[in-house]
Parts: sequence; structure tokens; C-alpha cells
Amino acid sequence: MEKAKIYITRKIPEEAIRFLQKDFEVKVWEEDRPVPREILLKEVRNVDGLYVMLTEKIDQELLDYASNLKAVSIMAVGYDNIDVSRLTEKGISLTYTPGVLSDTTADLTFALLMATARRITEANRYLLEGKWESWGPMLMAGQDIYGATIGIIGMGRIGEALAKRTTGFDMKILYHNRNRRPEIEERLGAEYRSLDDLLRESDFVVLLTPLTPETRNLIGERELGFMKPTSILINASRGATVDEDALYQALVNKKIWAAGLDVFHHEPVPKDHPLLQLENVVALPHIGSASIVTRKKMAIMAAEGLRDALLGNRPKHMVNS
Ligand code: DGY
Repeated sequence: MEKAKIYITRKIPEEAIRFLQKDFEVKVWEEDRPVPREILLKEVRNVDGLYVMLTEKIDQELLDYASNLKAVSIMAVGYDNIDVSRLTEKGISLTYTPGVLSDTTADLTFALLMATARRITEANRYLLEGKWESWGPMLMAGQDIYGATIGIIGMGRIGEALAKRTTGFDMKILYHNRNRRPEIEERLGAEYRSLDDLLRESDFVVLLTPLTPETRNLIGERELGFMKPTSILINASRGATVDEDALYQALVNKKIWAAGLDVFHHEPVPKDHPLLQLENVVALPHIGSASIVTRKKMAIMAAEGLRDALLGNRPKHMVNS
């Protein structure tokens, strides 16, 4: 019997490719950059399964080309690049990689928070540029982390893993979420707040919510206006949850103290983007889950999802059912 065909849009860890090759005919986009749209539209024509990253837009146009497509698997926990309702209408399954990246992403989020509060990248640049002439009483003085109040917006798996880390720093934990999480309130002492109250009370506001129509531009001029001039905004979710123009104004006008950003509206963010010109911004290239072990686990998990969906077994982590 002819093997079902799979297209993988990026070079992923070898073990995940070998795993899929056992049951399927596999083609991989070998270059270390996202597959160009016109090539993806061509490749998708006769495949049964598509293994994608967050860099590919899976929309109506692509689905019009994909006459054999039965399953899509994304090597990510966020899938805002995928039109899930269109997939569902066409009976195409979507699998993803929740859970496996939560701790790694929480580690990075906390590292970004610390780097922003203690001006790590700015201080490093200062030293490398030969500006360090003497120790100074207020040289590169930042904000304290221990004992501060953190406000986590989006108390899912990653939010919970981040909250756990903050307890070692005696931080007060506030959270805002679609649903209250009594077990986290009990276990970690987290307190629920409305969005506005969380913004008013927190020293660190951390965005970890998925991007949905409700969370798009969740933090704009009005919301930034509630934050304290000493507060720090950290975004490790999706860039579009924050109005970047409003954030720029808030940072320039010292309405808030600093921002740590792992994500941007348009990625890769251009080098001349106004936010990247500010000293009180720490910017990273969307590396929340980027540890070697975790990325390998994600690659295998996405492969397992695709295999199960194509072989007619119920996948463990399915977005639509
Ligand atoms: C995800 O999985 O959605 C992250 O943003 C990429 O690691």
C-alpha cells in the first residue's frame, strides 16, 4: 500500500524525522529559514499531513490548495497562525505540543524579568562599549525582584510554572485569567485580580496568555496608564497582545520603567524598530521554549500527534476534535 505523504516545513531534530519515516513518505524543507509561501502552497497540494511551525500561516488560501490534507501538527503550544475553524470544517485535525515546554518557557520568562529589572543587557553593552570608568553608587541601579508583586496575565501551565519560580523570591503573586484557579490560589498563595487591579498593584506585569480575538491588543494606552512608573512589563506570549506604539510611548514618557519582550507583532522584528532603540527594553528573538532538550521533546510530540492522526488513532494533544 502506498504510504501517506507528509511535508515538514523546517529542519527539525533528526529523531522526529526518522520517527515519521517509519510510516510515511516524508519531505522536509531543508533550509534554515521559513519555507516561502509559494513553495508551501505547491507542496501542500498532494500531502496527507503537514508538520508546521508558528512561522506558517495556515489559512483558507492554503487549504484551497490542500485537497488531500487530513492532519496538521504544529511544533508549538500556541496556534494563532492557524485558522482552526476552517480546519475543523474540512475535517482536518490539528495537534500541538502543550505541557512539554512549560518549565523551559517559565525559566526564560523569569530570566527575562530578572534581566530587565537588573538592566543586565544594558550593563553588558555599557561594559563592552568601554564606558565603565569606575564603580558608581547608582551605576546601573535597577528594581528589586525579591519581595515584589508579580501580576501574571494568563494562568495556564506556563503561568503556573512561573508562579512556582517566584515563590523562591518571596514575591506576592497576583493573576488574571479567564477562569479562576482555586488550586493555584491554595497551593501558591496566588490572588485573583481584575485586569485593571492587577495592573495597578503589580511591580511586574507578565503576559502569558494565548493570542485570541479577546487578547489581541489587551495591553494598550489605557492599561499601561494603570501601571506604576516603577513597573516592568514582560511579554512572553505573542506580540499582538500588546499595542507596540502605546508601549513605546509609555516607555519614552516614563509611564512605566522598562519592558522585557520575547515576542513582537511582526517577527523577526526589524533592527530599526523603535522599541529596540530604547535602553529600557530587553528584547529577545522569541526563544521562550528554546532549550535543546525541550525543542527535541516538542519535535517528537508534534510527530507523534501527526502519526496518530494519520493512522486513525486518537492523538493525545488535539486542538479540534
Ligand atoms: C509556542 O510553543 O507557542 C512558543 O511560542 C514557541 O516556543
